[in-house]
Amino acid sequence: MKQDMIVILDLGNTQNTATARAIRELGVYSEIYPHDITLEELNRLPNVKGIIINGGENHIVDGAEIFVNDEIYQSEYPILAVNHPATRCQKQLDFWPTDSERCSTVLKEFIFDICQADPNWNMKNFISDQIELVRRQVGDKKVLLALSGGVDSSVVAALLLKAIGNQLTCVHVNHGLLRKGEPEQVIEVFQNQLNANLVYVDASERFLSKLEKVSDPEQKRKIIGAEFIRVFEEEARKLEGIDYLAQGTIYPDIVESGTKTAKVVKSHHNVGGLPEDLHFELVEPLRQLFKDEVRACGIELGLPGDMVYRQPFPGPGLGVRCLGAITKERLEAVRESDAILREEFKNAGLDKTVWQYFTVVPDFKSVGVRDNARTYEYPVIIRAINTIDAMEASIEKIDWSVLEIITNRILKEVKCVNRVCYDLSPKPPATIEFE
Ligand code: XMP
Repeated sequence: MKQDMIVILDLGNTQNTATARAIRELGVYSEIYPHDITLEELNRLPNVKGIIINGGENHIVDGAEIFVNDEIYQSEYPILAVNHPATRCQKQLDFWPTDSERCSTVLKEFIFDICQADPNWNMKNFISDQIELVRRQVGDKKVLLALSGGVDSSVVAALLLKAIGNQLTCVHVNHGLLRKGEPEQVIEVFQNQLNANLVYVDASERFLSKLEKVSDPEQKRKIIGAEFIRVFEEEARKLEGIDYLAQGTIYPDIVESGTKTAKVVKSHHNVGGLPEDLHFELVEPLRQLFKDEVRACGIELGLPGDMVYRQPFPGPGLGVRCLGAITKERLEAVRESDAILREEFKNAGLDKTVWQYFTVVPDFKSVGVRDNARTYEYPVIIRAINTIDAMEASIEKIDWSVLEIITNRILKEVKCVNRVCYDLSPKPPATIEFE
Protein backbone atom coordinates (compact mmCIF):
# COMPACT_ATOMS: atom_id res chain seq x y z
CA MET A 1 0.00 0.00 0.00
CA LYS A 2 1.40 3.33 -1.02
CA GLN A 3 -0.55 6.01 0.78
CA ASP A 4 0.00 7.53 4.22
CA MET A 5 -3.10 7.70 6.42
CA ILE A 6 -4.57 10.00 9.05
CA VAL A 7 -7.01 8.14 11.30
CA ILE A 8 -10.05 9.94 12.72
CA LEU A 9 -11.52 8.32 15.81
CA ASP A 10 -15.29 8.43 15.84
CA LEU A 11 -16.76 9.92 18.99
CA GLY A 12 -20.05 10.59 17.25
CA ASN A 13 -19.00 13.98 15.94
CA THR A 14 -20.90 14.95 12.79
CA GLN A 15 -17.85 16.85 11.49
CA ASN A 16 -15.81 13.66 11.05
CA THR A 17 -16.88 12.90 7.49
CA ALA A 18 -16.20 16.48 6.37
CA THR A 19 -12.81 16.33 8.10
CA ALA A 20 -11.88 13.10 6.30
CA ARG A 21 -12.92 14.77 3.02
CA ALA A 22 -10.86 17.87 3.80
CA ILE A 23 -7.74 15.80 4.58
CA ARG A 24 -8.11 13.81 1.37
CA GLU A 25 -8.47 17.08 -0.52
CA LEU A 26 -5.05 18.02 0.87
CA GLY A 27 -3.74 14.86 -0.79
CA VAL A 28 -3.48 12.67 2.32
CA TYR A 29 -5.62 9.59 2.79
CA SER A 30 -7.93 9.55 5.82
CA GLU A 31 -10.40 7.10 7.33
CA ILE A 32 -12.77 7.11 10.29
CA TYR A 33 -12.49 4.31 12.89
CA PRO A 34 -14.53 3.42 15.99
CA HIS A 35 -13.53 5.32 19.16
CA ASP A 36 -12.68 2.10 21.02
CA ILE A 37 -10.12 0.78 18.54
CA THR A 38 -7.22 -0.85 20.37
CA LEU A 39 -3.60 0.12 19.88
CA GLU A 40 -2.96 -3.33 18.43
CA GLU A 41 -5.69 -2.85 15.82
CA LEU A 42 -4.39 0.62 15.03
CA ASN A 43 -0.85 -0.74 14.60
CA ARG A 44 -2.14 -3.20 12.01
CA LEU A 45 -3.48 -0.40 9.79
CA PRO A 46 -1.07 0.56 7.00
CA ASN A 47 0.99 3.77 7.20
CA VAL A 48 -0.84 5.57 10.00
CA LYS A 49 0.86 8.95 10.38
CA GLY A 50 -1.40 10.59 12.94
CA ILE A 51 -4.72 10.52 14.78
CA ILE A 52 -7.50 13.06 15.13
CA ILE A 53 -9.81 12.80 18.15
CA ASN A 54 -12.63 15.28 17.78
CA GLY A 55 -14.96 14.63 20.71
CA GLY A 56 -16.24 18.18 20.83
CA GLU A 57 -19.22 18.64 23.08
CA ASN A 58 -20.93 15.45 22.12
CA HIS A 59 -18.86 12.45 23.10
CA ILE A 60 -21.85 11.21 25.05
CA VAL A 61 -23.90 8.30 23.73
CA ASP A 62 -27.10 7.15 25.50
CA GLY A 63 -26.23 9.31 28.51
CA ALA A 64 -22.77 7.78 29.04
CA GLU A 65 -19.49 9.44 28.19
CA ILE A 66 -17.33 7.45 25.79
CA PHE A 67 -13.56 7.44 25.75
CA VAL A 68 -10.67 6.58 23.52
CA ASN A 69 -8.43 3.80 24.85
CA ASP A 70 -5.76 5.31 27.06
CA GLU A 71 -3.03 3.23 25.39
CA ILE A 72 -3.63 5.27 22.23
CA TYR A 73 -2.81 8.50 24.06
CA GLN A 74 0.33 6.83 25.42
CA SER A 75 1.43 5.67 21.95
CA GLU A 76 3.94 7.33 19.67
CA TYR A 77 1.33 8.49 17.16
CA PRO A 78 0.95 12.27 16.83
CA ILE A 79 -2.52 13.21 18.09
CA LEU A 80 -4.72 16.21 17.42
CA ALA A 81 -7.36 16.29 20.15
CA VAL A 82 -10.30 18.67 20.45
CA ASN A 83 -11.83 19.54 23.81
CA HIS A 84 -11.16 16.11 25.15
CA PRO A 85 -9.37 15.12 28.35
CA ALA A 86 -6.08 14.09 26.77
CA THR A 87 -3.24 12.63 28.74
CA ARG A 88 -0.80 13.16 25.93
CA CYS A 89 -1.17 14.83 22.57
CA GLN A 90 0.90 16.96 20.25
CA LYS A 91 -1.83 19.46 19.57
CA GLN A 92 -4.94 20.34 21.49
CA LEU A 93 -7.76 22.62 20.37
CA ASP A 94 -10.54 23.98 22.56
CA PHE A 95 -12.98 23.72 19.71
CA TRP A 96 -12.93 22.68 16.05
CA PRO A 97 -12.63 25.72 13.72
CA THR A 98 -15.87 26.36 11.87
CA ASP A 99 -14.23 28.67 9.35
CA SER A 100 -13.04 26.47 6.46
CA GLU A 101 -9.82 28.43 5.86
CA ARG A 102 -8.83 28.23 9.53
CA CYS A 103 -9.75 24.54 9.50
CA SER A 104 -7.52 23.93 6.51
CA THR A 105 -4.61 25.76 8.22
CA VAL A 106 -4.98 23.65 11.37
CA LEU A 107 -5.17 20.44 9.34
CA LYS A 108 -2.18 21.35 7.16
CA GLU A 109 -0.04 22.15 10.19
CA PHE A 110 -1.01 18.87 11.84
CA ILE A 111 -0.74 16.49 8.91
CA PHE A 112 2.32 17.95 7.20
CA ASP A 113 4.39 19.61 9.97
CA ILE A 114 3.58 17.38 12.93
CA CYS A 115 2.74 14.04 11.28
CA GLN A 116 5.09 14.49 8.31
CA ALA A 117 2.56 12.77 6.06
CA ASP A 118 3.25 12.65 2.33
CA PRO A 119 0.50 14.03 0.08
CA ASN A 120 0.51 10.80 -1.93
CA TRP A 121 -3.22 10.07 -2.04
CA ASN A 122 -4.26 10.14 -5.69
CA MET A 123 -6.35 8.03 -8.04
CA LYS A 124 -3.40 6.38 -9.78
CA ASN A 125 -2.07 5.07 -6.46
CA PHE A 126 -5.57 4.13 -5.29
CA ILE A 127 -6.23 2.12 -8.46
CA SER A 128 -2.92 0.32 -8.39
CA ASP A 129 -3.40 -0.54 -4.67
CA GLN A 130 -6.92 -1.83 -5.30
CA ILE A 131 -5.82 -3.91 -8.29
CA GLU A 132 -3.22 -5.57 -6.10
CA LEU A 133 -5.69 -6.10 -3.22
CA VAL A 134 -8.42 -7.55 -5.46
CA ARG A 135 -5.95 -9.94 -7.10
CA ARG A 136 -4.75 -11.02 -3.65
CA GLN A 137 -8.33 -11.49 -2.42
CA VAL A 138 -9.80 -13.49 -5.30
CA GLY A 139 -6.76 -15.32 -6.69
CA ASP A 140 -7.93 -17.26 -9.74
CA LYS A 141 -11.58 -17.44 -8.59
CA LYS A 142 -14.55 -15.94 -10.42
CA VAL A 143 -16.45 -12.78 -9.50
CA LEU A 144 -20.03 -11.73 -10.30
CA LEU A 145 -21.25 -8.14 -10.53
CA ALA A 146 -24.77 -6.71 -10.94
CA LEU A 147 -23.98 -3.93 -13.40
CA SER A 148 -26.82 -1.40 -13.39
CA GLY A 149 -25.00 1.17 -15.49
CA GLY A 150 -25.03 3.59 -12.54
CA VAL A 151 -21.81 5.36 -11.55
CA ASP A 152 -20.76 3.04 -8.73
CA SER A 153 -21.34 -0.32 -10.41
CA SER A 154 -19.79 0.95 -13.67
CA VAL A 155 -16.62 2.09 -11.88
CA VAL A 156 -16.40 -1.23 -9.99
CA ALA A 157 -16.72 -3.07 -13.31
CA ALA A 158 -13.98 -1.00 -14.96
CA LEU A 159 -11.66 -1.46 -11.98
CA LEU A 160 -12.24 -5.22 -11.76
CA LEU A 161 -11.73 -5.61 -15.51
CA LYS A 162 -8.27 -4.07 -15.04
CA ALA A 163 -7.56 -6.30 -12.05
CA ILE A 164 -8.95 -9.69 -13.07
CA GLY A 165 -10.21 -9.35 -16.66
CA ASN A 166 -12.35 -12.29 -17.71
CA GLN A 167 -12.58 -13.74 -14.20
CA LEU A 168 -15.34 -11.12 -13.88
CA THR A 169 -18.88 -11.72 -15.15
CA CYS A 170 -21.25 -8.74 -15.25
CA VAL A 171 -25.01 -9.21 -15.26
CA HIS A 172 -27.05 -6.29 -16.60
CA VAL A 173 -30.73 -6.67 -15.82
CA ASN A 174 -32.98 -4.43 -17.91
CA HIS A 175 -36.12 -4.13 -15.79
CA GLY A 176 -37.84 -2.14 -18.53
CA LEU A 177 -37.72 0.99 -16.37
CA LEU A 178 -34.36 2.32 -17.56
CA ARG A 179 -33.92 5.61 -19.38
CA LYS A 180 -33.67 5.83 -23.16
CA GLY A 181 -30.32 4.49 -24.40
CA GLU A 182 -29.15 3.12 -21.03
CA PRO A 183 -28.97 -0.62 -21.73
CA GLU A 184 -27.42 0.15 -25.13
CA GLN A 185 -24.68 2.24 -23.47
CA VAL A 186 -23.88 -0.51 -20.96
CA ILE A 187 -23.52 -3.04 -23.79
CA GLU A 188 -21.48 -0.65 -25.94
CA VAL A 189 -19.03 0.39 -23.21
CA PHE A 190 -18.57 -2.86 -21.32
CA GLN A 191 -19.10 -5.57 -23.94
CA ASN A 192 -17.88 -3.86 -27.11
CA GLN A 193 -15.21 -1.48 -25.83
CA LEU A 194 -13.93 -3.10 -22.64
CA ASN A 195 -14.48 -6.73 -23.67
CA ALA A 196 -16.25 -7.73 -20.48
CA ASN A 197 -18.11 -11.00 -20.02
CA LEU A 198 -21.55 -9.42 -20.01
CA VAL A 199 -24.82 -11.26 -19.51
CA TYR A 200 -27.61 -8.98 -20.72
CA VAL A 201 -31.05 -9.93 -19.44
CA ASP A 202 -34.05 -8.20 -20.96
CA ALA A 203 -36.65 -8.79 -18.26
CA SER A 204 -38.87 -5.84 -19.25
CA GLU A 205 -42.01 -7.88 -19.95
CA ARG A 206 -41.61 -9.85 -16.73
CA PHE A 207 -41.39 -6.68 -14.61
CA LEU A 208 -44.26 -4.99 -16.43
CA SER A 209 -46.56 -7.95 -15.96
CA LYS A 210 -45.72 -8.12 -12.21
CA LEU A 211 -46.49 -4.39 -11.97
CA GLU A 212 -49.73 -4.54 -13.90
CA LYS A 213 -52.58 -2.73 -12.11
CA VAL A 214 -50.38 -1.99 -9.06
CA SER A 215 -50.77 1.70 -8.20
CA ASP A 216 -49.44 2.08 -4.65
CA PRO A 217 -45.92 3.64 -4.81
CA GLU A 218 -44.44 1.57 -1.98
CA GLN A 219 -45.86 -1.65 -3.37
CA LYS A 220 -44.43 -0.83 -6.80
CA ARG A 221 -40.99 -0.27 -5.24
CA LYS A 222 -41.21 -3.56 -3.32
CA ILE A 223 -42.21 -5.53 -6.41
CA ILE A 224 -39.38 -4.02 -8.48
CA GLY A 225 -36.78 -4.66 -5.73
CA ALA A 226 -37.90 -8.24 -5.07
CA GLU A 227 -38.18 -9.13 -8.77
CA PHE A 228 -34.73 -7.67 -9.41
CA ILE A 229 -33.19 -9.97 -6.82
CA ARG A 230 -35.11 -12.94 -8.24
CA VAL A 231 -33.89 -12.32 -11.81
CA PHE A 232 -30.32 -11.73 -10.66
CA GLU A 233 -30.41 -14.86 -8.55
CA GLU A 234 -31.67 -16.95 -11.48
CA GLU A 235 -28.82 -15.70 -13.65
CA ALA A 236 -26.27 -16.30 -10.87
CA ARG A 237 -27.42 -19.89 -10.51
CA LYS A 238 -26.91 -20.50 -14.24
CA LEU A 239 -23.26 -19.50 -13.93
CA GLU A 240 -20.93 -22.06 -12.45
CA GLY A 241 -17.98 -21.75 -10.12
CA ILE A 242 -18.53 -18.21 -8.87
CA ASP A 243 -17.19 -17.48 -5.38
CA TYR A 244 -17.32 -13.73 -5.09
CA LEU A 245 -19.92 -11.01 -5.52
CA ALA A 246 -18.66 -7.50 -6.29
CA GLN A 247 -20.65 -4.52 -5.02
CA GLY A 248 -20.45 -0.80 -5.60
CA THR A 249 -20.59 0.07 -1.89
CA ILE A 250 -19.03 3.48 -1.28
CA TYR A 251 -17.83 5.27 1.86
CA PRO A 252 -21.01 7.29 2.59
CA ASP A 253 -23.00 4.01 2.46
CA ILE A 254 -20.82 2.69 5.25
CA VAL A 255 -20.79 5.90 7.30
CA GLU A 256 -24.55 6.45 6.83
CA SER A 257 -25.33 2.89 7.82
CA GLY A 258 -24.07 3.91 11.26
CA THR A 259 -20.90 3.23 13.18
CA LYS A 260 -20.89 2.46 16.90
CA THR A 261 -21.31 6.08 17.87
CA ALA A 262 -22.96 7.80 14.91
CA LYS A 263 -26.72 7.51 14.71
CA VAL A 264 -28.08 5.56 11.74
CA VAL A 265 -28.98 8.15 9.09
CA LYS A 266 -30.50 5.63 6.74
CA SER A 267 -29.92 1.97 6.21
CA HIS A 268 -28.28 1.27 2.92
CA HIS A 269 -30.47 -0.26 0.27
CA ASN A 270 -29.01 -1.39 -2.96
CA VAL A 271 -31.33 -2.71 -5.65
CA GLY A 272 -29.84 -6.04 -6.61
CA GLY A 273 -28.45 -6.52 -3.11
CA LEU A 274 -27.07 -9.82 -2.01
CA PRO A 275 -29.57 -12.68 -2.23
CA GLU A 276 -29.29 -14.21 1.22
CA ASP A 277 -28.94 -17.86 0.34
CA LEU A 278 -26.25 -17.36 -2.30
CA HIS A 279 -23.12 -17.72 -0.25
CA PHE A 280 -20.73 -15.35 -1.92
CA GLU A 281 -17.88 -13.45 -0.38
CA LEU A 282 -17.95 -9.72 -1.09
CA VAL A 283 -15.52 -7.68 -3.17
CA GLU A 284 -16.04 -3.96 -2.52
CA PRO A 285 -13.11 -2.02 -4.00
CA LEU A 286 -14.79 1.43 -3.68
CA ARG A 287 -15.75 1.12 -0.03
CA GLN A 288 -13.30 3.83 0.98
CA LEU A 289 -14.28 6.41 -1.64
CA PHE A 290 -16.56 9.43 -1.49
CA LYS A 291 -18.82 9.97 -4.51
CA ASP A 292 -16.63 12.58 -6.20
CA GLU A 293 -13.62 10.29 -5.74
CA VAL A 294 -15.58 7.44 -7.37
CA ARG A 295 -16.15 9.73 -10.37
CA ALA A 296 -12.46 10.68 -10.50
CA CYS A 297 -11.61 6.97 -10.36
CA GLY A 298 -14.00 6.27 -13.27
CA ILE A 299 -12.40 9.00 -15.39
CA GLU A 300 -8.90 7.71 -14.54
CA LEU A 301 -10.06 4.24 -15.68
CA GLY A 302 -11.22 5.70 -19.00
CA LEU A 303 -15.00 5.50 -18.62
CA PRO A 304 -17.02 8.02 -20.69
CA GLY A 305 -17.78 11.33 -18.94
CA ASP A 306 -21.54 11.03 -19.40
CA MET A 307 -21.50 7.70 -17.59
CA VAL A 308 -19.35 8.99 -14.73
CA TYR A 309 -21.08 12.37 -14.27
CA ARG A 310 -24.64 11.09 -14.51
CA GLN A 311 -27.27 12.62 -12.29
CA PRO A 312 -28.71 10.39 -9.54
CA PHE A 313 -31.24 7.86 -10.78
CA PRO A 314 -33.35 5.74 -8.42
CA GLY A 315 -33.01 1.95 -8.48
CA PRO A 316 -36.72 1.47 -9.35
CA GLY A 317 -36.06 3.77 -12.30
CA LEU A 318 -38.85 5.30 -14.37
CA GLY A 319 -41.26 3.10 -12.38
CA VAL A 320 -41.43 5.84 -9.72
CA ARG A 321 -42.02 8.56 -12.33
CA CYS A 322 -44.87 6.83 -14.13
CA LEU A 323 -47.47 7.56 -11.46
CA GLY A 324 -50.13 5.07 -10.44
CA ALA A 325 -50.38 1.74 -12.25
CA ILE A 326 -47.73 1.61 -14.98
CA THR A 327 -48.91 1.28 -18.57
CA LYS A 328 -46.67 0.89 -21.62
CA GLU A 329 -48.16 4.02 -23.14
CA ARG A 330 -47.33 6.27 -20.18
CA LEU A 331 -43.97 4.60 -19.57
CA GLU A 332 -42.99 5.45 -23.16
CA ALA A 333 -44.17 9.03 -22.56
CA VAL A 334 -41.92 9.30 -19.46
CA ARG A 335 -38.95 7.79 -21.30
CA GLU A 336 -39.29 9.96 -24.42
CA SER A 337 -39.95 13.20 -22.53
CA ASP A 338 -37.01 12.49 -20.18
CA ALA A 339 -34.73 11.98 -23.21
CA ILE A 340 -35.85 15.34 -24.67
CA LEU A 341 -35.34 17.10 -21.31
CA ARG A 342 -31.83 15.67 -20.95
CA GLU A 343 -30.92 16.62 -24.52
CA GLU A 344 -32.15 20.21 -24.14
CA PHE A 345 -30.53 20.62 -20.70
CA LYS A 346 -27.26 19.57 -22.33
CA ASN A 347 -27.77 22.04 -25.19
CA ALA A 348 -28.37 24.83 -22.65
CA GLY A 349 -25.36 23.78 -20.49
CA LEU A 350 -27.72 23.06 -17.58
CA ASP A 351 -26.60 19.42 -17.32
CA LYS A 352 -23.40 20.68 -15.67
CA THR A 353 -25.08 22.90 -13.08
CA VAL A 354 -28.43 21.35 -12.14
CA TRP A 355 -28.28 18.49 -9.62
CA GLN A 356 -31.24 16.44 -10.84
CA TYR A 357 -33.87 16.87 -13.54
CA PHE A 358 -36.47 14.54 -14.95
CA THR A 359 -40.05 14.23 -16.17
CA VAL A 360 -43.07 12.59 -14.60
CA VAL A 361 -46.32 11.38 -16.18
CA PRO A 362 -49.36 11.23 -13.87
CA ASP A 363 -52.26 8.86 -14.39
CA PHE A 364 -54.94 11.37 -15.32
CA LYS A 365 -55.93 12.96 -18.63
CA SER A 366 -57.26 16.35 -19.61
CA VAL A 367 -58.91 17.85 -22.66
CA GLY A 368 -56.84 19.55 -25.35
CA VAL A 369 -57.11 20.41 -29.03
CA ARG A 370 -54.91 19.38 -31.95
CA ASP A 371 -55.53 19.85 -35.71
CA ASN A 372 -58.96 21.28 -34.87
CA ALA A 373 -59.94 18.12 -33.06
CA ARG A 374 -60.49 17.41 -29.38
CA THR A 375 -57.80 15.40 -27.58
CA TYR A 376 -57.94 13.68 -24.21
CA GLU A 377 -54.35 13.02 -23.18
CA TYR A 378 -51.76 13.05 -20.36
CA PRO A 379 -49.69 15.94 -19.01
CA VAL A 380 -45.89 15.74 -18.60
CA ILE A 381 -44.49 17.36 -15.43
CA ILE A 382 -40.91 18.67 -15.50
CA ARG A 383 -38.91 18.72 -12.27
CA ALA A 384 -35.42 20.24 -11.87
CA ILE A 385 -33.85 20.67 -8.44
CA ASN A 386 -30.64 21.62 -6.69
CA THR A 387 -29.45 20.20 -3.40
CA ILE A 388 -26.31 19.47 -1.46
CA ASP A 389 -27.24 16.21 0.25
CA ALA A 390 -30.73 15.33 -1.14
CA MET A 391 -32.24 16.01 2.30
CA GLU A 392 -33.51 19.45 1.29
CA ALA A 393 -33.86 20.76 -2.25
CA SER A 394 -34.77 23.96 -4.06
CA ILE A 395 -36.08 24.22 -7.59
CA GLU A 396 -33.95 25.39 -10.51
CA LYS A 397 -35.25 28.66 -11.98
CA ILE A 398 -35.04 27.68 -15.62
CA ASP A 399 -35.15 30.36 -18.32
CA TRP A 400 -38.55 30.58 -20.00
CA SER A 401 -36.85 30.29 -23.39
CA VAL A 402 -35.35 26.89 -22.46
CA LEU A 403 -38.66 25.72 -20.97
CA GLU A 404 -40.42 26.76 -24.16
CA ILE A 405 -38.07 24.75 -26.37
CA ILE A 406 -38.54 21.68 -24.14
CA THR A 407 -42.32 22.13 -24.00
CA ASN A 408 -42.66 22.50 -27.76
CA ARG A 409 -40.55 19.42 -28.41
CA ILE A 410 -42.45 17.28 -25.90
CA LEU A 411 -45.82 18.35 -27.32
CA LYS A 412 -44.65 17.63 -30.84
CA GLU A 413 -42.65 14.43 -30.34
CA VAL A 414 -44.19 12.54 -27.42
CA LYS A 415 -47.32 10.52 -28.07
CA CYS A 416 -50.46 10.87 -25.90
CA VAL A 417 -49.34 14.15 -24.28
CA ASN A 418 -51.15 17.49 -24.63
CA ARG A 419 -49.79 19.58 -21.72
CA VAL A 420 -46.45 20.35 -20.02
CA CYS A 421 -46.25 21.60 -16.41
CA TYR A 422 -43.31 22.72 -14.24
CA ASP A 423 -43.12 21.60 -10.62
CA LEU A 424 -42.26 24.57 -8.36
CA SER A 425 -42.18 22.67 -5.05
CA PRO A 426 -39.12 22.60 -2.83
CA LYS A 427 -38.23 19.67 -0.55
CA PRO A 428 -39.67 19.80 2.08
CA PRO A 429 -42.63 19.60 1.88
CA ALA A 430 -42.33 17.76 -1.46
CA THR A 431 -39.71 15.08 -2.08
CA ILE A 432 -37.25 15.18 -4.97
CA GLU A 433 -38.89 12.29 -6.76
CA PHE A 434 -42.57 12.69 -7.65
CA GLU A 435 -44.23 9.40 -6.91
P1 XMP B 1 -36.50 11.81 -2.47
O1 XMP B 1 -37.56 11.56 -3.49
O2 XMP B 1 -36.59 10.88 -1.29
O3 XMP B 1 -35.12 11.45 -3.18
O4 XMP B 1 -36.43 13.25 -2.03
C1 XMP B 1 -33.84 11.77 -2.69
C2 XMP B 1 -32.81 11.28 -3.70
O5 XMP B 1 -32.76 9.85 -3.69
C3 XMP B 1 -33.02 9.34 -4.99
N1 XMP B 1 -33.80 8.11 -4.81
C4 XMP B 1 -33.29 6.88 -4.89
N2 XMP B 1 -32.03 6.45 -5.14
N3 XMP B 1 -32.76 4.20 -4.95
C5 XMP B 1 -31.78 5.12 -5.18
O6 XMP B 1 -30.65 4.69 -5.45
C6 XMP B 1 -34.03 4.56 -4.68
O7 XMP B 1 -34.90 3.72 -4.47
C7 XMP B 1 -34.31 5.96 -4.65
N4 XMP B 1 -35.42 6.69 -4.43
C8 XMP B 1 -35.10 8.01 -4.53
C9 XMP B 1 -33.79 10.44 -5.70
O8 XMP B 1 -33.66 10.33 -7.12
C10 XMP B 1 -33.13 11.67 -5.14
O9 XMP B 1 -31.89 11.95 -5.79
